[in-house]
Amino acid sequence: MTKINKLMAVFILLLSSSLFAQKSDFVAKTFKTAAPLYDNLLAKTKGNFIDYPHSLYPDGNLKYLQIDEWTGGFWPGALWYMYEYTKDTKWKDAALAWTHSLESNQFNTSHHDIGFMMYCSYGNALRFVKDEKYPQILLQSAKSLAKRYSPVVGSIQSWNERKSKGDINTWEYPVIMDNMMNLELLFYASKISGDTSYRNIAIKHAEQTMKNHLRTDHSSYHVVNYDPKTGKVLHRQTLQGFSDNSTWARGQAWGIYGFTVVYRETKDPRFLEAAIKMADFFLQHPNLPKDKVPYWDFNVGQQGYKPDWHFDPKKYAEVPRDASAAAIASSGLLELSTMLKAEQGKKYYNAAVSMLKSLSSDKYLNVERQNPYFLLKHSTGNFPSDREIDVPLIYADYYFLEALLRYQKISK
Ligand code: GLY
Repeated sequence: MTKINKLMAVFILLLSSSLFAQKSDFVAKTFKTAAPLYDNLLAKTKGNFIDYPHSLYPDGNLKYLQIDEWTGGFWPGALWYMYEYTKDTKWKDAALAWTHSLESNQFNTSHHDIGFMMYCSYGNALRFVKDEKYPQILLQSAKSLAKRYSPVVGSIQSWNERKSKGDINTWEYPVIMDNMMNLELLFYASKISGDTSYRNIAIKHAEQTMKNHLRTDHSSYHVVNYDPKTGKVLHRQTLQGFSDNSTWARGQAWGIYGFTVVYRETKDPRFLEAAIKMADFFLQHPNLPKDKVPYWDFNVGQQGYKPDWHFDPKKYAEVPRDASAAAIASSGLLELSTMLKAEQGKKYYNAAVSMLKSLSSDKYLNVERQNPYFLLKHSTGNFPSDREIDVPLIYADYYFLEALLRYQKISK
């Protein structure tokens, strides 16, 4: 290389890294915004490894969930992402302490959410700390999850028997779209143990979800209830969506992310197709707002969609958004974009980046500290039960930070 060529190469390198730095301003802005908020949250919960930050009550008080409930893994997970970005060991120490607090959950068989709880905490810890206990804890967690699998149904039971929304019928064996997110733990368990049964359960579960939760347009049912004796589908309904035939935004986002993971682990093109088509439904929907942060359900108040609960269209001047659905979808879409040929991948990459830019704008990002603890505003947890409407949610923060880190890795 001549001297002039070398100088040109250095110049191009500097220019592209400075362009990337400019392009990624929103990443830096978000992590900078998160730091003082999470300092507050750490101070607030100091020495307390029993109450897991979840959201805010309408009066602004912190809402915690307990160790056996589904969101315990997201706070340690968010702390791991803070550490990954900043390399500041204060986040690592906190992430470790909160991760370890979940250890007893490895034996939790009371619902399907153990994948969220343990893989978002211990699964992230594994990437930074070599501790031979971690794989054992995760393997036991996968064993606990697998106990909820029935070969007759071909699925993992999400919740124990319960009534449907509006007490219309009983769900004896309910399986929800969200359950796709627990499968990553099973794939991991097979890899470290050499026992393929976990992986086989995950694949069968994903096949059944593809067959029974997806409609022909690749929108999704939230809940499918099976007859546990025969495996027959008895009901297709919703708990958190607007109506049984509507598309709950977060459910659709779980599906995009979940099928992408299953394709990563199997390379089976059927799962890639499911992820792509669910993503297309989400992104091409006429009700998706311009900023790509969805309303909490794609069909709120529309003709032909009848809720099994009392809906008062006048209660909110605008249909509330669900920033958590955008955060989950953007993280899933970024991974999906890496699995496709350049042109097709670009479409999902660009969509994810617009979502991330929206979420890091002052509309969604808690720059003005309207609350002292959480990063993202405007998520919706459970509208039909009148719970967690237009609030921060810890899992919105978690998937948002994950997505920003994914963006950074694949954009360089
Ligand atoms: N997995 C529960 C939810 O998405 O609200």
